[in-house]
Amino acid sequence: MRIGIIGAGIIGQAVAQRFIAAGHEVMLSNSRGPQTLNDLLVQIPGVQVGTIEDAAAFGDVVLVAIPFNRYPTLPAEWLAGKTVLDANNYYPDRDGPVPALDRFETTTSRLIAEHLPGARVVKVFNAILADDLDRDARPNTAHDRRALPVAADDAGAKTLAIQLLDEVGFDAVDAGNLDESWRFERAKPAYCIPLNKEALKAALATAERHVELAHGSWRH
Ligand SMILES: NC(=O)c1ccc[n+]([C@@H]2O[C@H](COP(=O)([O-])OP(=O)(O)OC[C@H]3O[C@@H](n4cnc5c(N)ncnc54)[C@H](OP(=O)(O)O)[C@@H]3O)[C@@H](O)[C@H]2O)c1
Repeated sequence: MRIGIIGAGIIGQAVAQRFIAAGHEVMLSNSRGPQTLNDLLVQIPGVQVGTIEDAAAFGDVVLVAIPFNRYPTLPAEWLAGKTVLDANNYYPDRDGPVPALDRFETTTSRLIAEHLPGARVVKVFNAILADDLDRDARPNTAHDRRALPVAADDAGAKTLAIQLLDEVGFDAVDAGNLDESWRFERAKPAYCIPLNKEALKAALATAERHVELAHGSWRH
């Protein structure tokens, strides 16, 4: 499969490496242009680099991994018809306040999906630290396999994301649609904690919408 990635930072690079190891073709992009990404051609053998529009056109699937507050810059017309994997998290201190999120009225992925009306958005890869992607990946025969949460409105896109997770070393737990994806946003019990499938299901079930765990009980 061809996978475009918008955002060539810590998590974009880490997921790129896992996808390449699984046999996929990957193109990374950022806002400053491919001329700023030449080092990655050496650091991540096999990766391609391009503009945001190149990566969007390249990918059957497009991962978005940028600072959350930049999502309004995503090119909706280029992402129409694509499965978009949304790895982004809202950090008010970094991103600035988003009142609808602060009032728990919407989710980060719902906002992104509203900006990308033609895309099939899947919330995935947001609840694992980049360093843990390599450390925790296991073949699907392993007994101690970590599970990651997935949410989407489109059943086919969700199935594809679950298949991709399996290929890169993780089980998946279906956390519902994008309106329910708050269950694994920042400061929830399922956020960035290594859990197997059963423990992740329990963590998602115990999440309370208006309750944010104290910093320190989750990692970022
Ligand atoms: N780090 C983690 O372990 C981790 C894990 C899960 C999820 N996340 C989430 O994933 C997102 C990215 O995190 P990160 O740690 O990878 O951040 P990062 O290291 O700062 O990388 C951000 C990347 O996005 C690019 N970018 C910034 N604005 C952009 C725009 N408007 N269009 C396209 N590309 C843009 C940046 O390059 P330019 O500035 O050159 O464009 C950079 O390549 C965040 O929402 C974060 O919460 C992070």
